[in-house]
Amino acid sequence: MTIEAIIEIRELTKVYGMGEVQVRALDEVNLTIRKGEFVAIMGPSGSGKSTLMNILGCLDRSTSGKYILAGEDVSDLDKTQLAIIRNQRIGFIFQSYNLLPQTSALENVILPLLYSRNGDLSDAEQAEKALIALEAVGLADRVDHKPQELSGGQMQRVAIARALVNDPVLILADEPTGNLDTRSGEEIMTLMSELHTQGSTIIMVTHDDDIAAYAERIIRLRDGQIETDEQNGGYSPRTTLEEVDHARQ
Ligand SMILES: Nc1ncnc2c1ncn2[C@@H]1O[C@H](COP(=O)(O)OP(=O)(O)O)[C@@H](O)[C@H]1O
Ligand SMILES: [Mg+2]
Repeated sequence: MTIEAIIEIRELTKVYGMGEVQVRALDEVNLTIRKGEFVAIMGPSGSGKSTLMNILGCLDRSTSGKYILAGEDVSDLDKTQLAIIRNQRIGFIFQSYNLLPQTSALENVILPLLYSRNGDLSDAEQAEKALIALEAVGLADRVDHKPQELSGGQMQRVAIARALVNDPVLILADEPTGNLDTRSGEEIMTLMSELHTQGSTIIMVTHDDDIAAYAERIIRLRDGQIETDEQNGGYSPRTTLEEVDHARQ
């Protein structure tokens, strides 16, 4: 394993249903993802994308095989241990944002800090960190807004700030633009590109070729196996909306 591998999986297999009807959702998958990569996972419905993301995100365990996350073998951890890894090391971005509704943007972003390695941060230090994360996504002027007072794109920015606040080794995004109109989706993808440019490691599931085009590497699953794993030939890092608009013309 090279030092910069964030993810090493070896012969990773997930079988659902141990009774008569078994589904081999992942079938001896091998995959290495290095620090700073921006990877899109694609594939038809039922190909194993969610299963892979759940295991990479320490939400579920494989049936067999190895998963090494940032140098640590997490293959055999129990639920409690996985939860600790998940809370400390991984930032999640969901299609439906998953924000607490009656809670300000700032408090939503503070939440992961309550479970973090920095559990000894004072309230003021937590607020300061959350504010920095909200500034990074361009929402410094919306910290007191509740989710229903924000647009979809703004809600997803809050979710991105929440994913960033713990300085995760890995950001997992599941259809991050799935609920957004085209323009807001482009804003979110521009922001993700910026994070990538700044060094974040990002793995994103999408079924949308235009969204996958933002990634530098595209992996396609089929029947629980990697069908193709290619660098994205058209990839060029974009860091401003103007560049995105330009590229579309
Ligand atoms: N909890 C489960 N129990 C049984 N089978 C499951 C479960 N979750 C997923 N599967 C099956 O595993 C396969 C892969 O599913 P999934 O990872 O959700 O694919 P994708 O996200 O690419 O649509 C499918 O055949 C699906 O029906
Ligand atoms: Mg799925």
